Amino acid sequence: MTYTKQDLALNGGPKAKTSPTIPMFPGGLEIGDEEKKEVMEVLDNKYLFRYYGPTDSPSKVKAFEESYAEYLGTKHSLALNSCTSALVSALVAVGVGPGDEVIVPAYTFFATCAAVVAARAIPVVAEVDASLTMDPLDLEKKITKRTKAIIPVHMRGMPAKIDRIMEIARRHKLKVIEDVAQANGGSFKGKPLGSFGDAGCFSLQFHKTITSGEGGVLATSDDLTYTRAQAYHDVAACWRKDRFAPPEFAGEIFFGVNFRMSELTGAVALAQFRKLDSIVGRMKHNKKLIKDRLLDLKGIQFREVTDEAGDTATCLIFFLPKGSQVSDFTTALHAEGIEAGGIYNKGVPDWHMYPHWKMLIEKMMPTDKGCPFNCEQSGPAPNYDPDACPQTMGLLERSIHLDIPPQLSEKDCEQIALGIRKVASVLLA
Ligand SMILES: Cc1ncc(COP(=O)(O)O)c(C=O)c1O
Repeated sequence: MTYTKQDLALNGGPKAKTSPTIPMFPGGLEIGDEEKKEVMEVLDNKYLFRYYGPTDSPSKVKAFEESYAEYLGTKHSLALNSCTSALVSALVAVGVGPGDEVIVPAYTFFATCAAVVAARAIPVVAEVDASLTMDPLDLEKKITKRTKAIIPVHMRGMPAKIDRIMEIARRHKLKVIEDVAQANGGSFKGKPLGSFGDAGCFSLQFHKTITSGEGGVLATSDDLTYTRAQAYHDVAACWRKDRFAPPEFAGEIFFGVNFRMSELTGAVALAQFRKLDSIVGRMKHNKKLIKDRLLDLKGIQFREVTDEAGDTATCLIFFLPKGSQVSDFTTALHAEGIEAGGIYNKGVPDWHMYPHWKMLIEKMMPTDKGCPFNCEQSGPAPNYDPDACPQTMGLLERSIHLDIPPQLSEKDCEQIALGIRKVASVLLA
C-alpha cells in the first residue's frame, strides 16, 4: 500500500490510532488488590519500620529484598528509598571518594551523574553509540589514572554492552556499578541486568517498570560491598544486631545517612515485584507487534539492539536521516493519535542528556569549597564543554521515541504501526 499526503490525518485523512493514549506508568497502572493487601497487613500489624515495632511481624522490606536477590541470582539485595540513594551507597561501598573519577554516559537521567558528585568524585562523561548506551570505544578513551569506577546505564530498557564494559573494567582494575533504573527485569545473554558489576542499582520510582512510588534496590554478590552499603544507608546502624558494638573489621561502620526503605513502600514493592515478568513480557510482545510491521520501512534506522531477548521493551526508538525532520514527523504522528516525541532539542531543557546538565557544566555546589570540584585531591577542576559529546547528540537529535505501555491492545499496536508507516512513507519519501 502506498500513501500520499492526503492520507495523513494532518491533511484530513483518517486518524491511524483511534483509542486514547495510555500513559507510561507500567507498574503504576497495575496497582490493585495485591498491593492493598500487603499495605493493609503493615497497617494492621502497626509494623511500619523494618527493624522493630509493637508486634513481632515479618518485615515486608526484608521479604522484598530476598525475592529480589533470588530473582537476580545475587547473594544480597538492599532496599533503599531511591535508585539515586542506591547509586550513592554503591559508590561509597566500593570505595569511591575524593580524588576519584567515575565515568558515566552522556545519555542518562542526571541522577547517575549527581550520585558521583554526592560521593565527592568527579564525573567524566562518555559518548553513547547507536544502542544509546555507553560506547565501549569512547569509554576506554576516557579512562585516566584517577578513574575508579564506571556506571554503565541500561538506558530506556536496553541492555548496555555490559560484556565489553566488564572486560575493559577488569583489565583496568575498575569497579562497575550498573544503573538499571530504566531496565528492571532485563538481561544480557540470559543473565539478569544488575548482576554483572560490583553492584546493580534499580529504581522503583513511579515511572519505572515496577513501582512503589519512590524506592530503590542495590544488588551485589560481594559481602564487603553489601555490608558497607548497608552501613552507609542507615545512619544509626539499626541493621546491626548490637548497634553500639565496635566494628568487627576496619571499614565495617562509618558515617552514613538515612536512605532506608519504609515498610509501607516495601509492601507495595513486594506486590509489584510479583508482576515484573508479566509487565516486561507484555511490553516485549507489544514492541514486537509494532516493530515487525515496520522492518521494511525506508528512511528510518532503528536503535541498535544489544540483546533482543534481554531488552525490556519500554520504548521503540528510531533515527530519522536528519534532525531537521523530527519536528514535522512528530507533528504528523500526533495528528495520527500517536504520542511519540523527539529526544533532543537544544532549546528544550531535559535532565536526560549531558548538554542540559547545567549543575555539572556550571559546577553548582551548595558551597564553593570542597570536593569534588574545589579540593586538592581532585586536582584541577575539569572544564565541562556542552559540545563535548557530538556523537551522542548527533544520534539523539535525529531520534523519535515512542513509549510501549504493557496495557496496549493488539489493535493499538497495529494502529500505531500503521500511523508510523503512513507518516514515514509520506515524509521520508
Ligand atoms: C537512568 C536513571 N538512573 C537513576 C535514576 C534515579 O532514580 P530514582 O528516582 O529512584 O532516584 C533514574 C530515574 O529516573 C534513571 O532514569
